This record gives sequence, C-alpha cells and structure tokens, in this order.
Amino acid sequence: MSETIFKNWTSDLSRDWGKKPIRIDHSLSQNELFSKDALAELIQRYPIEHYSLMRTSSRGEEKKIWRRGEVGGLSGHEVMAQIASGGLWLQLRELKLVDKRYYDLLQSIYGEVEQRVPGFDSFNHEMGVLISSPNAKAHYHADLPGQALWQIMGRKRVYIYPAEEPYLPQAELEKIALTGLESALQYDPEFDRHALVLDLEPGQMLTWELNAPHRVENHDELSVSMTTEHWTEEIRRQQMLTVANGILRKHFGVSPKRGPADGASFWAKAVLQAGWRRSPWYKREQRKMLPVDFRLTPGTTTSIVDIPAYVV
Ligand SMILES: [Fe+2]
Repeated sequence: MSETIFKNWTSDLSRDWGKKPIRIDHSLSQNELFSKDALAELIQRYPIEHYSLMRTSSRGEEKKIWRRGEVGGLSGHEVMAQIASGGLWLQLRELKLVDKRYYDLLQSIYGEVEQRVPGFDSFNHEMGVLISSPNAKAHYHADLPGQALWQIMGRKRVYIYPAEEPYLPQAELEKIALTGLESALQYDPEFDRHALVLDLEPGQMLTWELNAPHRVENHDELSVSMTTEHWTEEIRRQQMLTVANGILRKHFGVSPKRGPADGASFWAKAVLQAGWRRSPWYKREQRKMLPVDFRLTPGTTTSIVDIPAYVV
C-alpha cells in the first residue's frame, strides 16, 4: 500500500476533527506533486482565469499596494524566485480542474478523512496552492466552508480565534455569506489574547472549527502551502441559516437568532435563502475580481510593468 497522507493519526484527532483547531502531520511535503520542479511546471501552464498573482506592499514599503497581475513569459522557477524576493503572492485556484493528478489527490485526502473520522461525509471539495513572499500576511478573516491549511515549504505563524462573539459577530458572518467578501470581519489586536497561536512547519496541516476567524504571518522565507475546502450536510445547513439571517437583518431590519439547523424555523429560513439565491440581489452582491493590470518581467527580484487593465 502506498504511504498514507496523514501521519501519526490518533483517536483524539478523530474526535476533534471539525470541532476545534488541530495540527496533524502529513506526507505531502515529500510528494512529487509539490516539488519545486512540479510547482514551476504547473505555474508555467496555469490558466490565468484560475490564478491570482497579487502585488502587495513588502516590508519597508509605506504605500499600501494591492494589484492583480499576470506571470507573463517567465518560467515557473523565475516566478518563484521573484516571489521569494518579496511583495508577491500567487494563488493557484481550482487545482482539481486544472490537473487531474491533484484531483485524484484531493479524493484520496478526503477518502482518508472519511475512514478516520466516524460519520464524516463531505462533498464539493476544493484545493488551491498559495505561494507567498517572506513575511507576507493574510489578514483576519473567516471562511464559509470547512477548511484546512497544509504547509509544504517555509514556515507560517497561524492565529486562530474562537468562532463566537466578539471575534465573529453574527452580523459580520452574515455579510460574508451574502457578499463573499471575507474582509467584512473587523480585527482588534485585543483578540490576540484569546488566539491559539501555532507555527506551521512543512509536513504539518491545520484544521479548525467552522467559521473560526484566523490570520497568518509568513516567517522570513518563501512559503508554499495548500488549502483544502469541503462541505458537509451540517456545514451546508449552517450556511443556509447564515444567509437567511443575513437577508432578514439586511432587507427586513430584524436581528435574527441563530436557531437550530433543523425543524420548522430552519426550513422556513431554507426557503427564504433559496428564493434569494435566484433573485437579482444575489448576483449583484457576489464578489468581483480585480482587473489584471501588471505583468512580471525578467529579473532576479520582483520586477513588474504596467499593462492596460483587463478583466479575467
Ligand atoms: Fe482562510
């Protein structure tokens, strides 16, 4: 039998999966699919509609920069070298659609989780790779699906906060569910006193309870990580409830109680949010991607040219 994806699994992990933050050892940092050569080859042929290359402010840069660009004619190794020199991150989204080998890996990952966690039955899996500069940060946010972060190269510090008030106000979670804009969440440095702070090394992965807010800081080195997402029937119902409560709060001016994820009041809310998803409100409020307005150019450090902006 080939090597398992999770290593050193214990019964505590089976008990805590999806309920609290847990760190688990994994074998993907030794997997050929995540070698530097494999990633370089992937970057070179990655379709632009499935990646986000972002130029961000790096240390010492006063001005706040947030632009989307294209990798241009650079080789994958050159792209990674520029990311290693600072001020960039590259997210390869929808990896399962771009290369079947990663799709198969994603199936194996969740196959293993289902074997190890009694009653866990998940669907709509997604995966992506994030290659980010030394000291890059992911701001305080919460995600809607079940999430895991897998470290492949470099180290990150991850701060995870309780999925409850005041870290995650219901009204803000509803806003995220309605708009897809994760930046709706307000960060207060005071929250750090109650954060779980973990350094994630290559060969470790982290997962946490649904919607738990988190933020991430790279150490002073290039970071490659993978994210996976999943849905379960329970997560889907929680999401329907959040959307319905968001509609009630935003369009009907009431402050709804969270309520149970079944029974009469749940199904009334399920109907409400289903109707909303078919309405023109829904499309209007969904996230818009930034236009692409720069291209990487050859150089050993991050080097870009402006190009006429276009929407992908
Ligand atoms: Fe996240």
